[in-house]
Amino acid sequence: MNVLHVCANPKPTEESVSKQLSIAFITRLIEQVPEAEINNVDLYQDPPPHLSLAAWRGLWQAAFDPNHKITKEEQKATEYARGQAKLFNQADVLVLTMPMWNFGPPSIFKAWLDQVLAPGLTFDLGPDENGTVRVRPKHKIRRVILLVASGGVYHEGDARDGLTRTIRSALEFVGIERVQIAWADGQNPLFYGDHEFRKQTAIEAAQDLADELAEEFQTSWSASQ
Ligand SMILES: Cc1cc2nc3c(=O)[nH]c(=O)nc-3n(C[C@H](O)[C@H](O)[C@H](O)COP(=O)(O)O)c2cc1C
Repeated sequence: MNVLHVCANPKPTEESVSKQLSIAFITRLIEQVPEAEINNVDLYQDPPPHLSLAAWRGLWQAAFDPNHKITKEEQKATEYARGQAKLFNQADVLVLTMPMWNFGPPSIFKAWLDQVLAPGLTFDLGPDENGTVRVRPKHKIRRVILLVASGGVYHEGDARDGLTRTIRSALEFVGIERVQIAWADGQNPLFYGDHEFRKQTAIEAAQDLADELAEEFQTSWSASQ
């Protein structure tokens, strides 16, 4: 099992609830699947560039126009995206760790997403047998585990939640529908006296997701690895 873990949180683990969820998840997963290969991408250690014009030309314009010749500048501008796409396409499972910031994911994560979800890298765009243009995934990600913390209390579907909606929609576009979430909400101690209980509940939810993943791996896809 190849796991790509992308962390978008600058805080040390002892101060970050979402990072504590990721420790709980990964520790439990490795206990049960010791052979799991975990690739950690810490976006604050190795920050993604914002998508530039040269990178857009080298990725998107090249997909729209088959006559487009990628220049040296465009090739260089797409190096980060190509490196991350390689990790993405190797992964069976994607783990995302982040706080909610201003009702969405941290912008550093959005910058990563804009680099990685590009045609020719993690998916292709092309007509099916009826001539309708479709997205054809190049990755093999089976499921996504989203580990998130927020100060307020939200439920999925709450109009203020732009985090899970953005992530689900972007991943669904490239053919990933299975996004499972452990969400430590109510982490603002000034508003929520039960924030510690909420954190513990989310840690247990993260461990349950690891158990479920390990069981599915052992019962249905370990033989194919
Ligand atoms: C810049 C910034 C913006 C934030 N925006 C929100 C928000 O929109 N909604 C919310 O519920 N909490 C918000 N928070 C609170 C964090 O989501 C909360 O502290 C969470 O526990 C952070 O996760 P972490 O402990 O893993 O760092 C914000 C915090 C910061 C620093």
